[in-house]
Amino acid sequence: MDIKNLTDNFGVEVRSFDCSKKIGYDALNLLKKTIQDRHFICFKNQKLDGDTLATFTKNFGKLEAYPEKDKTKGQIEIFNVSNVSEDGEHLDPDDQRVILQKNNSRWHTDSSYRYLPSIFSILYGQETLPPKAEGGQTQFSNMLLAYDHLPEDKKILLEPLHQVQSYNDIRRLEPGLPELTYEEKSNFPPVTHPIVRVHPDRNFKRSLYFTSNTSLEIGGMSLEQGRELHKWLVNYISQPKFCYTHKWQKNDLIMWDNRVLLHRVIPYDYAKYSYR
Ligand SMILES: [Fe+2]
Repeated sequence: MDIKNLTDNFGVEVRSFDCSKKIGYDALNLLKKTIQDRHFICFKNQKLDGDTLATFTKNFGKLEAYPEKDKTKGQIEIFNVSNVSEDGEHLDPDDQRVILQKNNSRWHTDSSYRYLPSIFSILYGQETLPPKAEGGQTQFSNMLLAYDHLPEDKKILLEPLHQVQSYNDIRRLEPGLPELTYEEKSNFPPVTHPIVRVHPDRNFKRSLYFTSNTSLEIGGMSLEQGRELHKWLVNYISQPKFCYTHKWQKNDLIMWDNRVLLHRVIPYDYAKYSYR
């Protein structure tokens, strides 16, 4: 496989590697080391179906079942990140599946609403936007780097704070979404996570860990102060020096480390273009 760095700080592109084939021990070790060191991998030119995608993904851990069955694609472990239904129908911008896509344009880390959030996410680009279309990129921000660059007073302020993360609270940000069922709600009670994450597997380095897609507040302080600090954090981590913006090509398979990177989709014209 050919591995090339995408930025000085994180991310690689991998060519000449087929993710649909069984991966040998050495290649898998190299990929695990690469995702640990570089946090983002884009595998170019992949041809995958639901089965080969799930098989590839299982090389890196156990798969999560998505909280709502009707948003998944064939298998409950494969979430349909798209404004196109599973049957290929272009969805109305008011459709709850499209509203969820809009919520993805807020900085977040996947499954933060779980007591044990996901380590990695893997996303396969099946249909991309025409080159002249605006938006549609997936942007990443490196929280290890962002933490390192924080002013000392902010590090002290953030150290004891936490954020409440609730899958149900997405409804607070996107009131157009229908209520969860009782079962869905009880499967995902609110959890809290520290804003400063410690990485035992990285020599106890610290990073930031927060989201904008489940709440816009930081806990452990007044509501106003929490909102103000959250806003500050969003602006701070959006600085280009922490970010990489992935411009999709059809059949890209991207993988990232949710413990280190926040991500968001740059909004596109949901009514005009199909995207999956
Ligand atoms: Fe996401």
